[in-house]
Amino acid sequence: MLKDILPPFTLGLSPMDDVTTKEYRQICRRFGADVLYTEFVASDALVRDVEKSYDKASFAPMERPIGIQIFGNEQGPLVDAAQRMESFQPDFIDINWGCPMKKVAGKGGGSGILADIPKMISITSAIVKAVKTPVTVKTRLGYDEKSKPIVEIAERLQDVGIQMIAIHGRTKQQMYRGDADWTLIGKVKENPRMTIPVFGNGDINSVEKLLEYKNRYGVDGILVGRHAVGNPFFFRECKQALNGEQVTLPTMQEKVGVCKEHLLAMCENIGESRAIPIMKKFYARYFLAVPGFKPYKLKLMETKTSEQVLSILKDVGDNL
Ligand SMILES: Cc1cc2nc3c(=O)[nH]c(=O)nc-3n(C[C@H](O)[C@H](O)[C@H](O)COP(=O)(O)O)c2cc1C
Repeated sequence: MLKDILPPFTLGLSPMDDVTTKEYRQICRRFGADVLYTEFVASDALVRDVEKSYDKASFAPMERPIGIQIFGNEQGPLVDAAQRMESFQPDFIDINWGCPMKKVAGKGGGSGILADIPKMISITSAIVKAVKTPVTVKTRLGYDEKSKPIVEIAERLQDVGIQMIAIHGRTKQQMYRGDADWTLIGKVKENPRMTIPVFGNGDINSVEKLLEYKNRYGVDGILVGRHAVGNPFFFRECKQALNGEQVTLPTMQEKVGVCKEHLLAMCENIGESRAIPIMKKFYARYFLAVPGFKPYKLKLMETKTSEQVLSILKDVGDNL
């Protein structure tokens, strides 16, 4: 059972496209993320043998426990993709029933499935039956303000055999607007029929909030997304707080060092030309709220080679 390999309270890195690549996941693991997910991988692309999608699904042994997340809108390719992913031997296969982006949800995949719950349940059931690997689901509260049946959905998904559910406290319609509503996540957890781990997700952006939501909603785990972008240190801070220890914040040298390590690992694995644009999403996050960083950020945005980035990062370390 998946439950047996997860810590009693699981602090996880939420899957994020173009962010939670293996290089970044490994850094977050080192800082204390208990569970990792790959970026979402398109079932259609896996079925068509698209090499880049197979790369996205690959991971290193130190990343365990890890789930490969797949998305799609039709049972055939999703089942096929899940079966193909078994050869990677992930600890779980996660179905993305939560993405609100038009190119996914507009076609009925991701959170688009929340408009057709029977289909969501039957595809999930077919995937569970088709693989030996534990299957999990990441989803949202419901389709829109008028329909938030997550308590019922979670029960039905558990009944067809999923082994963990992660819930982002927003609806499909909300995208990322408004605040995540954790009260319904708490209701799912309170439901006496639920026996699988229930993870909450959405808007965790401080150690205090993590502790407060863990205690208030009683969830078995929390996934951190945006606040962990360029901030792997957050996992260490949370772990320290959870253990009742003094929280240590990263020094500037540590930030520079980890950012550099991230860049070099990306360049090594996917090549400089692909790594440089992806890394541009991270710089402002690694050095968030650092006084005087802005001119360096502007320079980093213009970089084309890792040598240029390394030289600017050195200046950041020396001067800020
Ligand atoms: C850039 C970005 C990419 C994302 N990609 C995925 C994804 O591939 N799969 C997924 O389930 N959720 C994805 N999400 C959603 C996050 O995992 C998470 O559910 C959401 O951001 C709410 O959590 P947070 O408030 O901690 O960020 C993505 C979010 C962002 C911001």
